[in-house]
Amino acid sequence: MTNKLKYFIGNWKMFGDFTSFKIISRISMFSRSYARLGRKKIVLCVPNTLIYFFKKKLKSKHIFLGAQNCHHEDGFGPYTGSISPMMLKKIGSEYIIIGHSENRKEGETDKMIKRKIAFSLKNKINIIFCIGETSSEKRKKQTFSVLRKQLKNSLEKKFDFNKILIAYEPVWSIGSNKIPKINELKKIIIFIKKECGKNFNVKKLRVLYGGSVNPQNIRLFSLISNIDGFLIGGASQSAKKFIDIIKNYYK
Ligand code: PGA
Repeated sequence: MTNKLKYFIGNWKMFGDFTSFKIISRISMFSRSYARLGRKKIVLCVPNTLIYFFKKKLKSKHIFLGAQNCHHEDGFGPYTGSISPMMLKKIGSEYIIIGHSENRKEGETDKMIKRKIAFSLKNKINIIFCIGETSSEKRKKQTFSVLRKQLKNSLEKKFDFNKILIAYEPVWSIGSNKIPKINELKKIIIFIKKECGKNFNVKKLRVLYGGSVNPQNIRLFSLISNIDGFLIGGASQSAKKFIDIIKNYYK
């Protein structure tokens, strides 16, 4: 078993209400009682409507809360329906997912993503920056060039990479039950780390994998030691599945 710190990050998407605290509470109990099960960090990125409520109720130091997106301006401003990084920090977000393909699909550009990252860092929020190719890009063998472009266009040397996690999430894998071949995934993780080393002078970059991770296939992913953790969507909406993913990872 590895003793390297691993991240298990849940992305609840548009899911959950106040009663969903029971999910967090079960995960928190598990985390406390299995504290010795490898060095791990558990983060749950929940809807903005729940962050403050969960933060107040959650007594555990074992679980961190995060948001799933923010506006590309900070502070307050005339942006109907939007929430800034500063506002998210104030309600207790310690992490934030930025650049998720479900938001890119809605028109979020690399330039907007860069601003979101910069403002979130300014507010001392840890970043989970998502990158990944679509199925047609994969078919055309453009995976590496797409990832290179996404990294180059949204990151900067001056960013604090101790506060940035990159989540490689192939778009074709999200919610589809399809996962990359282990050998391909290994190469992609190495590529991402190398690219960031070269372009941004990062010595130690942490890279997560996301896309259809479940309690069964997590055993396969545990074979890749250079993956620093996982971004888990659908399965994180169930305490049992999320806990089983962690247990099976360390089996
Ligand atoms: P999934 O989603 O685990 O449901 O495939 C992952 C994500 O969108 O972050």
